[in-house]
Amino acid sequence: MADTLTITDNRTGKTYEVPITDDTIKAIDLRKIKVADDDFGMMTYDPAFMNTASCRSAITFIDGDKGILEYRGYPIEQLAEKSTYLETAYLLIHGALPTKDELASWQHTITHHTILNENFRHLIDSFRYNAHPMGRLISSMAALGTFYPESKEIFDPECRMKQMHRIIAKIITIAAFNYRSTIGMPYAYPDNDLSYTGNFLNMMFKMTEQKYKPSPVLERALEVLFILHADHEQNCSTNAMRAVGSSHVDPYSAVAAAAAALYGPLHGGANEAVLQMLTEIGNVKNVPDFITRVKSGEGGRLMGFGHRVYKNYDPRAKIIKQVAYEVFEVTGKNPLLDIALELERIALEDDYFVKRKLYPNVDFYSGLIYQAMRFPTPMFTVLFAIPRVSGWLAQWQEMLEDSDQKIARPRQIYTGARTLDYVAMETR
Ligand code: ACO
Repeated sequence: MADTLTITDNRTGKTYEVPITDDTIKAIDLRKIKVADDDFGMMTYDPAFMNTASCRSAITFIDGDKGILEYRGYPIEQLAEKSTYLETAYLLIHGALPTKDELASWQHTITHHTILNENFRHLIDSFRYNAHPMGRLISSMAALGTFYPESKEIFDPECRMKQMHRIIAKIITIAAFNYRSTIGMPYAYPDNDLSYTGNFLNMMFKMTEQKYKPSPVLERALEVLFILHADHEQNCSTNAMRAVGSSHVDPYSAVAAAAAALYGPLHGGANEAVLQMLTEIGNVKNVPDFITRVKSGEGGRLMGFGHRVYKNYDPRAKIIKQVAYEVFEVTGKNPLLDIALELERIALEDDYFVKRKLYPNVDFYSGLIYQAMRFPTPMFTVLFAIPRVSGWLAQWQEMLEDSDQKIARPRQIYTGARTLDYVAMETR
């Protein structure tokens, strides 16, 4: 049995043989299929990349039918239980779990890069008080690159790694400073004695105390949420990171582009939508009526349900549900939880949702946790972006080292007019 695909072009009766590797054919191999010698050759048409692999990758594995997610081969459940976010970021970027010394050195380096150049405050101060946190983050990330002109040396591995340290470290400071600016609070500077997530909570919520002491439960909950959001293979924002990075721009500009992609409501904005939906439902007794309206198409979608890839329970949603209970022990129960639980219970028994394989996704419970932890709703997408930078950077690095990759440049099927004669203004 040959690993090839035989194609007969019925326009010409010619037959072509195309190699198959990993259940995939190369689109470029179809170019030899022509009607005439001077034809451009055959292309594939695949808006939204529904069935096109844009890269070979060894970072994240997903089996959507079975509900499996692995980073570098390690199941997400084990990482969420045993790892920290910074260790997971190391794993994604370096490809293997760190030794004790490697982890200590990585943590030390990231911690000691969290401070921002003081000039950066002027940029943050210049936003309007009600500027959206994601607009602030995107602009801040692009601006951060201007402080490090050497960051364009993307093929110098040492220089490249230094920028990755800076981005992972400073994104929490940028997010927190922008928040404090919004509410008119003085900036809280990084505290190197704290963990990554503890330090982020410190910069967000420190008041007048000499030393901020994060709740260990909330600190750990944030670690878990960050681990779960660190990478998800070739989604919209990761594709943006790779496509923009393929022009060999500096990583700050590429991260700003990826963050812009994440900002959209079809991507990173869904956790916010879940919260709005639960608030609108308002009471457990309104749930059956809401479900009926969703099924009839009148009530919109059940936000936080369904996924393009997972046709089974999103493995991240299971873990998040558990974290929610732990957080509510400390913060008190989010009153919207009962509505969420009832929605899930009814939906999982209902034929409409069962038939369509609609299960809770990562966003169904995460907003409830963030709200209970006192993060403002417009910041939810920022909380997604913070850990996702490690995934974006790992994917960017892999792309730069992949000899198959070139500048991303899709083809098109041109459907417009041709060779018109310019019409003078007075005769139009
Ligand atoms: N509520 C009700 N019905 C739904 C839902 C939902 N949440 N999701 C899908 N369906 C129905 C569709 O109406 C469709 O039904 P039909 O076959 O009768 O027309 C069927 O299920 C298939 O839906 P598609 O839209 O084709 O599925 P797709 O894979 O394109 O969409 C998506 C996936 C966008 C996530 C969708 O399930 C959805 O809109 N969910 C709600 C928004 C959400 O939670 N997004 C977060 C995703 S996770 C993330 O990005 C981090």
